[in-house]
Amino acid sequence: MRVLVIHGPNLNMLGAREPEVYGSRTLEEIDEQIRALAADLDLEVSIFQSNDEGAMVSRIQKQDYAFLVINPAAYTHTSVALRDAIAAAGKPAIEVHLSNIHRREEFRRVSYIAGVALGQISGFGVESYLLALRAARTYLQPGE
Ligand code: DQA
Repeated sequence: MRVLVIHGPNLNMLGAREPEVYGSRTLEEIDEQIRALAADLDLEVSIFQSNDEGAMVSRIQKQDYAFLVINPAAYTHTSVALRDAIAAAGKPAIEVHLSNIHRREEFRRVSYIAGVALGQISGFGVESYLLALRAARTYLQPGE
């Protein structure tokens, strides 16, 4: 039961980046929480961060996972390429955001990804990722 977690651009800056919006945890601290919950849920997790849209597309194309949890960050609002990659991979996916993108600037309310995801979890900080892992656990059949 392998879950791929992708963090998009600028999420490597968490901790230092707009803490009033994104909290004070670093990406390493968030990844630790993801790994700990994945172990509890008996999910094998791979975590990938990139600031590069093409690298994210290439990672999605590898197809070495049963379920995708993705925070596309700013590419949420711009990337047809990421949307197409997720659709082409044909794996169940959940879009996550630390902040609630629907109560921020107008341009953040549009997601190019939501239409190819099972759902979107937005606004719960690190808990957004943890909720997505729990949803993946429920969705995946034993053995997947
Ligand atoms: C984000 C929200 C995006 O609008 C923004 O560009 C990010 C982070 C979030 O997790 O809240 O980089 O995806």
